Amino acid sequence: MLSERAARAACGRIPKPRTAPQIPRLMARSEPNRYLQQNPPPVLRSGRTADQNRRACALYGRYAPGRGRCCPAGLAWFLQEVPALLAPLLLLLWTEQAGSGSGSGTGTLLLLCTFVLHYSYRSLIYSVLTRGRPVPLHIIVFSAVFCGLNGFLQGHHLLHCVHFQHTWMTGARLAAGWFLFLVGLSINVHSDHILRNLRKPGELVYRIPRGGMFEFVSGANFLGEILEWCGYAVAAGSLPAFAWAFFTVCSIGPRACHHHRDYQQRFEDYPPSRKALIPFLL
Ligand SMILES: NC(=O)c1ccc[n+]([C@@H]2O[C@H](COP(=O)([O-])OP(=O)(O)OC[C@H]3O[C@@H](n4cnc5c(N)ncnc54)[C@H](OP(=O)(O)O)[C@@H]3O)[C@@H](O)[C@H]2O)c1
Repeated sequence: MLSERAARAACGRIPKPRTAPQIPRLMARSEPNRYLQQNPPPVLRSGRTADQNRRACALYGRYAPGRGRCCPAGLAWFLQEVPALLAPLLLLLWTEQAGSGSGSGTGTLLLLCTFVLHYSYRSLIYSVLTRGRPVPLHIIVFSAVFCGLNGFLQGHHLLHCVHFQHTWMTGARLAAGWFLFLVGLSINVHSDHILRNLRKPGELVYRIPRGGMFEFVSGANFLGEILEWCGYAVAAGSLPAFAWAFFTVCSIGPRACHHHRDYQQRFEDYPPSRKALIPFLL
């Protein structure tokens, strides 16, 4: 985990980006700015300001505003993601006890396991392994509420609203969607692993990610997550599942583009053929 000093540097002590000539003087003056020395912000390399760069992007990670209360990354990811794990599990328990709904159907259980598999990884494994910077409290609260509601919505719809017909078409759709989900999950987990290993424990530097899908796109972890939820939507074939996939695209698609621009401005030797989110295209 981060040292207290590194955590303070990442959350609240780093001044807001200033004009280019001011930054070298600031970096020479104070210890917490060692982070800035290791990672010259885009403003030093182009006329575009960091504020412009993080516009319309969720303000955590490299775009965190640098003020306000924060929580260590591991605890933050656990708190904000675990409601999405608990909500469908509690619903399943309640449904089984009440003996209602279609909770025993194979398709329903497969999809529920799919959803729970992702959130078990994100809330119980990713949160323990992450080497990210502290997360602002308001992001945690917003994400926890959102994850809880989404977990409830997906669980409720699967357990109480849909009934999968045992036809060839349903079987093929489930299989195709589940396969896409597994491909996405593999890309996501592998990309998270690559990102994590770019840092030693306690470091907060940014380096160029290499290997896996990062050879093709800057947002390989986001591409994996998007494939996961598109696969889930194909398998479920329901409005809530497609809505969730659409939200994911809208939420982390732009983040991949912001990261891509950030890398291009931060690293002069950034691979020119690498795209933001979709290999060879975008
Ligand atoms: N379904 C959804 O709507 C949704 C929404 C958000 C996130 N997610 C998923 O949650 C996971 C994490 O999301 P995120 O937005 O935190 O991803 P991210 O910005 O790519 O960061 C992932 C982790 O890697 C670190 N990192 C990123 N780039 C790095 C680099 N070049 N060098 C060193 N370390 C680097 C980050 O540290 P810092 O924190 O210090 O930047 C963070 O700990 C992803 O797999 C994403 O798909 C899903």
